Amino acid sequence: MTPYVADPVYLNGQFLPLADAGISPLDRGFLYGDGVYELIPVYSRRTFRIDEHLKRLQASLDGIRLNNPLTADAWKSVVLQLIDAAPWDDQSIYLQVTRGADNKRDHAFPPATVPPTAFAFASPLVTTSAEVRAQGVSAITVPDLRWSRCDLKVISLLANVLARQQAVEQGCAEALLIRDGLMKEGAASNIFIVRDGVLCAPPKTELMLPGITYDVILELAGQHGQPVRVAEIEETELRAADEVWMTSSTKEILAITRLDGEPVGKGPNAGRPGPLSEQMWQWYQDFKNNVMRKG
Ligand code: PDD
Repeated sequence: MTPYVADPVYLNGQFLPLADAGISPLDRGFLYGDGVYELIPVYSRRTFRIDEHLKRLQASLDGIRLNNPLTADAWKSVVLQLIDAAPWDDQSIYLQVTRGADNKRDHAFPPATVPPTAFAFASPLVTTSAEVRAQGVSAITVPDLRWSRCDLKVISLLANVLARQQAVEQGCAEALLIRDGLMKEGAASNIFIVRDGVLCAPPKTELMLPGITYDVILELAGQHGQPVRVAEIEETELRAADEVWMTSSTKEILAITRLDGEPVGKGPNAGRPGPLSEQMWQWYQDFKNNVMRKG
């Protein structure tokens, strides 16, 4: 157990202390980043959208041609056992599957007899403080150096890691990834903008992770009659936006109020979280509290 990882963790069919959980250094997750992952938020010990997360896990596994070592029900049982054993009410559950460890190093797939490695653990859900939310965060734009299947939630995240580190070194919370003049998403979040009262989101393509939070936001917008445009967002539109938000399972909805050192938005509210980000955050909290915590 550490302050961030509860005991026990799950590894290949067993629940055991983190300190006793070991894998081979020949594991292809270690050698090649050959694997996929999911992160499922838990509120008041109830999972949020677990079916959707497990569906995306399956889509990621299918995308890298790796068999799922567990059925959806077996994953749910693992997740519930981790939640029960962890000391926190609000948690994030991390799941990872890699292509296992062969007895040699070879880029091509190992024989079918080599089992995948399945790993999962519970952490406390780290939420954004009210002070940070009230101010919003700063972000930078960087070229999108990732591969062409960003719709798969793969553990090979080096381009995302370098982009986020560049942001952190400039005192920023996120790096927005620009490819061919289009803003695709953040290094670890989806990005929405607001222009003239319309909530704009990039479409789901192979160049963006289909966020679970992204879907919830579009559903909430639909339920509340909020005008939405799902279409590619040009870098020029990003820079002219009234509001820019980052969204993810851990960040929920967080306003980006400075972009590349410039305030986001115009007029007296420039550089401050906009009204729609506040509204969407409230809709999201209501949804969580009514649908989730009370179940
Ligand atoms: N990241 N885009 C990228 C590249 C991401 O890594 C994430 C989430 C998202 C948002 O997806 P969701 O709404 O399903 O959390 C979009 C997680 C939190 C992570 O890597 O830890």
